This record gives sequence, structure tokens and C-alpha cells, in this order.
Amino acid sequence: MVVSGPSSLDLGNSIANCLNVKSVPVDLRVFSDGESKVKISADLSNKICIVVQSTYPPVDSNFMQTLMIISNCYNAGASEVIAVVPYMGYARQDRVFLEGELITISLIANLFECVGIKNLITVDIHSLKALSYFKFNAINISSICILADYAIKNFNLDNPIVISPDVGGIDRAKAFSKRLNSPFFGLNKSRNRITGDISIEEKLEMDITNHDIILLDDMISSGGTILKAIEILKKNNCRRIFVMCVHLITDEKSLTKIKESGISEIVSTNSVPKSCSNVDLSGEISKALYNILS
Ligand code: R5P
Repeated sequence: MVVSGPSSLDLGNSIANCLNVKSVPVDLRVFSDGESKVKISADLSNKICIVVQSTYPPVDSNFMQTLMIISNCYNAGASEVIAVVPYMGYARQDRVFLEGELITISLIANLFECVGIKNLITVDIHSLKALSYFKFNAINISSICILADYAIKNFNLDNPIVISPDVGGIDRAKAFSKRLNSPFFGLNKSRNRITGDISIEEKLEMDITNHDIILLDDMISSGGTILKAIEILKKNNCRRIFVMCVHLITDEKSLTKIKESGISEIVSTNSVPKSCSNVDLSGEISKALYNILS
């Protein structure tokens, strides 16, 4: 059965529908000191439980609740627990950038192992380096094709170019553009590791005048990267800009800023439930689950 965590209730229900199994909700109480308490009322004995819970902000409490739900399933007699964590928080902390820092995603991977996880599915994890710290069967599935299919169906694109706001995301842009049969490239972005300030080179490697742009990123967090990229693209006289991302973890204030920055539309997947998370991951996740279970 699917155990739909509080951060991914709708997605859990959709996955259960796809797999034609029962979806069980989790009762959550958060106390005045911030502690969470989870309760699952269904009979889980000898069941394979698929725990669906994204660890978007507030990352720490959503993450802690994920571990609690998994432990609770095992305590209630589940024969196996498979974790589905569509947005994997902490994946950006996949290396030491400044001396004295911790590779936090490695600790996260260990914690999943500690609570008994042997199979985990995540979606477009920030880097394959982050995935390498998981020493059990951790599968990363890509939503890029379904994002591209959404764009083809809904945006009526004219001469599109797919652009990644940084070169680190170039493989995603390449995969997306293959679906559109269009050019792609990455902007030259740099981030000051101490202040967090972002700068992007204004000169682009391709003329984008009068082209529709798909500005594609794995995640939008503060919105700083995408806003800077939009500013540069507009200066370079593109036609329309469609912002697409897998994980829209930004707050409402930054989202409004992006929507009001002169773009045509912003669309994300439902790894994070938002007003514009129109691309449903349940089909892709169900396929991956089916492969693990068969
Ligand atoms: C960076 O490598 C990522 O792909 C995103 O571009 C970045 O994490 C977005 O963060 P923010 O919205 O805070 O600039």
C-alpha cells in the first residue's frame, strides 16, 4: 500500500491510483515546540509500504517526518518500506565548497539506511554526485521528457531554444531540446560562495532574437538565479520566456516576483504542490515502482 506523507498527500493518492493499491494517510501533530508526531491507523502487517514524502521547505521537519513514517511502518509490521522522495532536500550539499563544511547529503543517505530503507526513488536529484552517497538501491528518475511534452502541448512554441541558467544543468537542457528538436545552451553563471550573489554573463553563445525561450532549471529556491537569467534573456531580445523547473521550492513572495518579471508562464512538477505544478509525476514514479516490485 501507499503511505501518503503530509507533504505529498495528493501525489501519494495519484500513485496509489496508478498502481491500483490503497492509499493510507498519516495523522500528523505538530506540537508548540515544533516537534512532530505521526500516527498511521491502517493495518500494515506484512505489507510492502511505499512511503511518499517530498522534503521541500520546511526541509528539516519534512525530512524528520519522512524518517518517522518509515520507522512507524516497520514498527507496525511492514515487510518492506520503499521510500519515494520526489524532491530530495540537501542534495545541493554534495561537496565541500568552503573549508569546514559537511557533505550533508551523505548524512541524509545514512539516515535513510539507518531506518531500514533498501529501495528509494527520487526525481531529478540535483547531482549524480549527491546520488552516489546512497549505498543502497537509490533510483533517480527524470521528469524532463514529461516537462517537454507539457511545453509542446501547451505553449504553441515558435522557434524555441532551451536554455539552462548554468552550465551544470546542460544535460537537462539537452534532453529537453531533443524532444523539441531545437537548439540548447547554458548561461555562464557564477555564484559568490560567501555572499550568495549571482552573476551571469550578458553575452550569449547564440543569437536569441525573436526566439521563444524555455528557461529550464532543476529547482528554483530563492529565485535569484532565474530572475537574473530572465533579465539577461530580455536584454538579448528574445520573444517569450517560459520558465520550467522540476522542483519549485520557492516561497510565494519570490514566486510572485518571477511571475511579474515579464515571463509568459512558469510551470513545475508536483514534487512540490503549488498553483503552477501542472506536470504530474505519478505516472513516471509508478513505472519505477513497478520495476522495483516486479
Ligand atoms: C544550481 O545549481 C541549481 O540548479 C539552481 O539553479 C539553484 O539552486 C537555484 O537556486 P536559487 O533559486 O536560490 O537561485
